[in-house]
Amino acid sequence: MTATIDTGFTKAERSDVARELTKVLADSFAVYMKTHGYHWNVRGPEFFSYHNLLEQQYREMWEALDVLAERIRSLGEIAPQGHSTFANLTSIKEGDPEKAAGDMLTELMKDHETVIATARAAIEVADQASDEATVDLLTERLGAHEKFAWMLRATLGGR
Ligand SMILES: [Fe+2]
Repeated sequence: MTATIDTGFTKAERSDVARELTKVLADSFAVYMKTHGYHWNVRGPEFFSYHNLLEQQYREMWEALDVLAERIRSLGEIAPQGHSTFANLTSIKEGDPEKAAGDMLTELMKDHETVIATARAAIEVADQASDEATVDLLTERLGAHEKFAWMLRATLGGR
């Protein structure tokens, strides 16, 4: 007997939702990588607080990457793998370790806004497919990235 999938979704629904999850995963992976790099390379009088804030954020994102990829697998699709595959799936640019500390935080804040937009679009597709588990996961990711964006914005002196 072959291991078939019967979880209440059509093949088209599963692949549509997985494609959206893949975009969210790729954006999240790019921001994770940049946040970890800036955690290492940030410099200046605020070093310690920036270094720690970024650590808190990259750790949370690292855990979420696994959950997002495993949701794609639960839908019967293949999770993206490899540096070039990930690079081709996101519009988020690599970080620049020579940037000033404030510019690093501003860039990350904007990147979280990109993830937020990607997640919001993905929720629409998952909702259309009545995929509540994915809607739930993406709603949680939406809130997490809004919180990261707020913390970066507040650190920069914004509301
Ligand atoms: Fe560290």
